[in-house]
Amino acid sequence: MSDSVYPAPAGTENSIDAARAAAAWQRSVEDPDGYWREEARRLDWIEPFTQVKDSSFHEAAFRIRCFADGVLNVSANCVDRHLETRGDQSAIIWEGDQPGETKTLTYRELHRDMCRFANVLKSLGVAKGDRVTLYLPMIAEAAAAMLACTRIGAIHSIVFGGFSPDSLANRIQDCDSKLVICADEGCRGGKRIPLKANVDKAVAHCPSVEHVLVIRRTGGNVAMTEGRDIWLHEALDGVGDECAPEPMSAEDPLFILYTSGSTGKPKGVLHTTGGYLLWVTKTFSDVFDYRDGEIYWCTADIGWVTGHSYVVYGPLANGATTVMFDGVPNYPDHGRLWETIDRLGVNILYTAPTAIRALMREGDDWVTRHDRGSLRLLGTVGEPINPEAWTWYHRVVGGGRCPIVDTWWQTETGGILISPLPYATDLKPGSATKPLPGVQPQLVDAEGKVLDGAAEGNLCLTDSWPGMMRTLWGDHDRFFQTYFSTYPGKYFTGDGCRRDEDGYYWITGRVDDVINVSGHRMGTAEVESALVAHAKVAEAAVVGMPHEVKGQGIYAYVTLNSGVEPSEDLRTELRQWVRGEIGPIASPDALQFAPGLPKTRSGKIMRRILRKIAENDTGSLGDTSTLADPSVVDTLVAERVEHG
Ligand code: WTA
Repeated sequence: MSDSVYPAPAGTENSIDAARAAAAWQRSVEDPDGYWREEARRLDWIEPFTQVKDSSFHEAAFRIRCFADGVLNVSANCVDRHLETRGDQSAIIWEGDQPGETKTLTYRELHRDMCRFANVLKSLGVAKGDRVTLYLPMIAEAAAAMLACTRIGAIHSIVFGGFSPDSLANRIQDCDSKLVICADEGCRGGKRIPLKANVDKAVAHCPSVEHVLVIRRTGGNVAMTEGRDIWLHEALDGVGDECAPEPMSAEDPLFILYTSGSTGKPKGVLHTTGGYLLWVTKTFSDVFDYRDGEIYWCTADIGWVTGHSYVVYGPLANGATTVMFDGVPNYPDHGRLWETIDRLGVNILYTAPTAIRALMREGDDWVTRHDRGSLRLLGTVGEPINPEAWTWYHRVVGGGRCPIVDTWWQTETGGILISPLPYATDLKPGSATKPLPGVQPQLVDAEGKVLDGAAEGNLCLTDSWPGMMRTLWGDHDRFFQTYFSTYPGKYFTGDGCRRDEDGYYWITGRVDDVINVSGHRMGTAEVESALVAHAKVAEAAVVGMPHEVKGQGIYAYVTLNSGVEPSEDLRTELRQWVRGEIGPIASPDALQFAPGLPKTRSGKIMRRILRKIAENDTGSLGDTSTLADPSVVDTLVAERVEHG
C-alpha cells in the first residue's frame, strides 16, 4: 500500500470543496428526506412526489422505495429538457473502430432519432412494461434504442455483445423479451462480431420473441427470417419525428441488467426510474465536476452497468457531451486513446484499471507523443487499481495535473457510492477514499460483528440510497437471500475492504465466489457449469488468480471422465468450449487437469487450497488433514500450470 497523499487541487467556485462535501454527507444521513427532496430538483418531474425514502433492510418490513408517488420520464430528462438551451450542442460523439470514423449527434438530432425509434417500437407492438433485449455494438443507435425504450416505458435488458448465443438465450428467456434489437455485425479491433447470427441461434430457443429488429452497421451478409426479422432503416420509413414521453411512476422498472453472482445463474438486477436517474445524474455531476461544454469519455461498453450509468444516462441527464467508443484501446496501436483524446478534445477520461495496466506495459512513449492538453480529470472503475498503475495514470497520462477519481460501485448500486470528489478529497493511490452523500458503509467480520475505526472486513451498507437496485427480475426472494441475509439488516456487497486511520476505504476485492477479470464480473460457478457440460469432463473447480494485466485471471481445475487422457489439444478444446458456452471473457487463463480435487470427508471442495495453488502460494496451504485424501494436494501442487 502506498502512503503518499496527493492533495486536492482548487476547483472552480461551483466545485464541491472539502467543507461542502463533509456537510453534504452529514446532512444526507441526519435529514435524508430533506436532502433528497432538494437534490431531486435536478430532475424534471411530471408530477411531484410527496414521499421520499421508504425502506427497510429487515426481513419483516423489507422494502426499498424512493419518491414512490412521483411521476417522470427518463428520456425527457435526458433529451427534451435540453432542447431549448442546447439543442445544437453535441450530445453524442460516436467514435468507430477505425480512428477518425466519427459521427456526432446534437441533442436535437438525438431527440428525433429517439422518437422515431420509439415509434418503430410501438409499431412492433411494444408497450409499457414489455421487455426488450439489446445486443448491440457501441453505436449511437444503441443510445437511441435505450432512450426509445424509456420513452414508451418498455424495460430494456442489454446483453454484452461478447456473450455467446447460449448466454444471450438465457437472458432473453429469463425476462421473456418480446423484441431483440441487434446489429448485423459488430466491429472491434479490426474484427467482425456476428451479432445477428448469434441472435438467430439464441432466438431459436426463445418462444417469447416476436421480432428481431436489425440495425445495419457493417453491411455484412445476414439471414433475415421472413415475418420475424425487420431492418431498422426500413421500419423507420414514414415514421413520425415526435413521440410523447410516457409518464412513469418513479418506482416503475427502467431496466434489467444481468450480472454474475456466486451461484450459477446470472441475476437480473432491476433498476427503477426515479431513484436511479437521480443517482446517476447527481454522481455524474459531482464526481466528475462536469462543466458545461466539456467533452467526456467513458470507455465502458453499454453491455455493462458503467455504460448504462456513465456513458448514457448520467451524462445525458446533465446535458453533457458523451463519447461512445466502438473500438479498443490497443487498436490500431497502443496510442489509440491518446490520439483520440487529442482529436476530439476530451476533457474527462473514465476507464478501467485493466486498460491502464495493459497500456502502461507498452511504455510511456505511446502516451507522451500525444499532447493530452485537453485532459482535466481522470477516473477509474471496475476493480481495485494498484498504486503503481494509479501513479502511472496520474504522472504520465495526466501529466501530474489531473486528479483521479477511483470510483467504487456495482451493478446493484446503480451508480458510484465511494469515490473522491476531485476538488475536495486528498487522494491516496489505490483508495476509493470516502462515501458519497447518502452512502453509509460498515465493515463487519465473518460473524457480522461491526468493526469500528481502522479495520479490515466485509463491506456492507446499512441503509438504502435512491439509486440502489430494487429486486432481481422474477425472484424477489433470491434478492433478499443474496444481499440481505448474510448480515441481517444490512446490504452485503460481496467485497472485502479496509478502512484506514483517516477513514479512507480501500476495496480489497471480492470475498465471494465472484471473480473480476479485466473489470468484468464472472461467477466461478458459471464457468464450472460450462466446463462440466463438456462430454469429457467429470468435475471442475474454478478460482481466481492474480493476473498482471487483467487483475484477476481464471484458473480452472478439471477432472476428466475415466478413460479420457489429458492432452494439450484437449486443454485448447476446453478453453474454446467455454468461449462458446459463455463468451471469450470467460475462457480460462490456466487450465489444470486434476486427477482429484481436494474435498472434505463430506464432499465439499476446499477452494481455499485451490486458490493458494493457483496463486502459487503453496508454502502456506494450511491444515489439509481434514481432507478425505490429502495426497491429491501434492499432485495438484506438482502439476500446477502457469498461465499463458
Ligand atoms: C469491483 C462495476 C475496487 C468490486 C461498476 C465490485 C471495484 C465489482 C471498483 C462490481 C473500484 C468496482 N475499486 N473494486 N473502484 N469498482 N469494483 O457489477 O469488486 O461490474 O463488487 O460494477 O467490481 O462490478 P460490476
